[in-house]
Amino acid sequence: MTKPPKSGRFRSQEWFDNPDNPGMTALYLERYQNQTFTREELQSGRPVIGIANTGSDLAPCNKIHIFLMDRIKAGIRDAGGIPMEFPVHPIQETGKRPTAALDRNLAYLGLVEVLHGYPIDGVVLTTGCDKTTPAQLMGAATVDIPAIALNGGPMLDGWYMGQRAGSGTVIWEARRLLAEGRIDYEEFMERACASAPSLGHCNTMGTASTMNAMAEALGMTLTGAAAIPAPFRERMEMAHATGRRIVDMVFENLKPSDILTRKAFENAIRTNTAIGGSTNAPPHLQAIARHAGVALHITDWQTIGFDEPLLVNMQPAGEYLGESFHRAGGVPAVMAELMKAGRLHDHVMTATGKTMGDNLAGRDSHDHDVIRPHDRPLREKAGFLVLSGNLFDSALMKTSVISDAFRDRFLSTPGAEGIFEARAVVFEGPEDYHARINDPALAIDEHTILFIRNVGCVGYPGSAEVVNMQPPDALLRAGVRHLPTVGDGRQSGTSESPSILNASPESVVGGGLAYLQTGDRVRLDLNTATMDALVDPKEWAQRQADWSAPHMENQTPWQEIYRRHVGQLSDGGCLELATAYQRVARNLPRD
Ligand code: FES
Ligand code: MG
Repeated sequence: MTKPPKSGRFRSQEWFDNPDNPGMTALYLERYQNQTFTREELQSGRPVIGIANTGSDLAPCNKIHIFLMDRIKAGIRDAGGIPMEFPVHPIQETGKRPTAALDRNLAYLGLVEVLHGYPIDGVVLTTGCDKTTPAQLMGAATVDIPAIALNGGPMLDGWYMGQRAGSGTVIWEARRLLAEGRIDYEEFMERACASAPSLGHCNTMGTASTMNAMAEALGMTLTGAAAIPAPFRERMEMAHATGRRIVDMVFENLKPSDILTRKAFENAIRTNTAIGGSTNAPPHLQAIARHAGVALHITDWQTIGFDEPLLVNMQPAGEYLGESFHRAGGVPAVMAELMKAGRLHDHVMTATGKTMGDNLAGRDSHDHDVIRPHDRPLREKAGFLVLSGNLFDSALMKTSVISDAFRDRFLSTPGAEGIFEARAVVFEGPEDYHARINDPALAIDEHTILFIRNVGCVGYPGSAEVVNMQPPDALLRAGVRHLPTVGDGRQSGTSESPSILNASPESVVGGGLAYLQTGDRVRLDLNTATMDALVDPKEWAQRQADWSAPHMENQTPWQEIYRRHVGQLSDGGCLELATAYQRVARNLPRD
């Protein structure tokens, strides 16, 4: 059954079958053969496949993987491999304080150490909740052993009173209804719980579904893996097929560096626009690219992605949820639409061992209401704008969620289309926002832009999803459901707010947002993709000279390590020193 590895010898044999060093081999062998495995199989020349398990009680979005594990292992054994499951540091988006974003790089570091330091020849990355996907793709890129991603799939569609109740999106809406006095606390909780009816990750096109679609668009999964809802039969089948496939990938020595090329990232960026993907995709893909040694710049998101159309009618940019997306054909149907229109690179290699073009042959949308044809999109030019100016070098705006009402109210002044000039109100963080948003002294009206700072990677720490600030209750009751908001933090991928976010550099490291004051005039110009504080340059320079960084308190050792080494969101929010380590599996660790 076993085929010789293309590279001559598996790295796991250096542990389990090395006659040059009987002493160490004996130590490795005796402890692994006393449980689960036998000496015969460990010395049979079969590859050891790690399964990075991200599921646990603490990580409910990924808990499905506990139940998929049997099928993954069966697939690995059926193809002649030896499965070895191990845990990944949990990253539960809705459980971890101060933010799960703090732990992406921690899980990344842990995974790199496991893949480098243990007898593993290839790995199945079990993905799902937002940061679990980039953390593991980043780790696989750094180590560069054969790797394939398998996500757990979204939850079934949520329903409340006959309406679709989408993860996160239902909460942003209920928050407004509560502030307007139209629902009470009890109904708020009922609506929220209705959106989570089964195992799985968020059923909207939030960051989880986006990042799993990105893994597929990059070529790091089997075709069609991303969109299958967690409880579906096909999810179990995909787990088995993924287990089988990783063994062949090891025999073929097909590594992340063969798949994660610049062209693969360009495909992913275009796909992200077509699915109406999360504003968290840019920092995560920037991070994966940097660890893979691929040059990708934040402005690529506009130059490559902006002109693409929105094809997927899924919340928060549209109306449907995960089940409909899967039934309509999922990611392959979207990519096939883009490919037919000549918008994707077809010759890129993927985890299937075939090119993306081959993978997508014959794939089609089965429901044009859910996945639109390329020539009949939900919206043209639906990508991110990458803004710049004196407040930041870069910040993102997701244009696919700009509603007509928002456009009419803020961006349609005759003679100044796409331009909005307003008074700034500045908050120092989410606590300050909650304490003061309803203070009449701030005089917040429709000619106000809300700013929030100190919430980036270093400032928060980890970068918080708080930029989608809700207007004051009085304004909500008057029918103003969104105000333009800006910040150096992020926002939930499930938010339909057209915020300007991920501003880099962040304020606590001296980015322009640090010098803004409540009452300043600010000008947003979507035609030139700029945003500037209209403050006299001399005055601005004086504020800069007078500025000193705020005191930041670390509550754990990791927070301090993270703050010392993390970069900006525009560069992926990586541990900067880690990006110098590439393809580390080329060198075996010392015995
Ligand atoms: Fe985990 Fe959305 S909170 S997937
Ligand atoms: Mg989130």
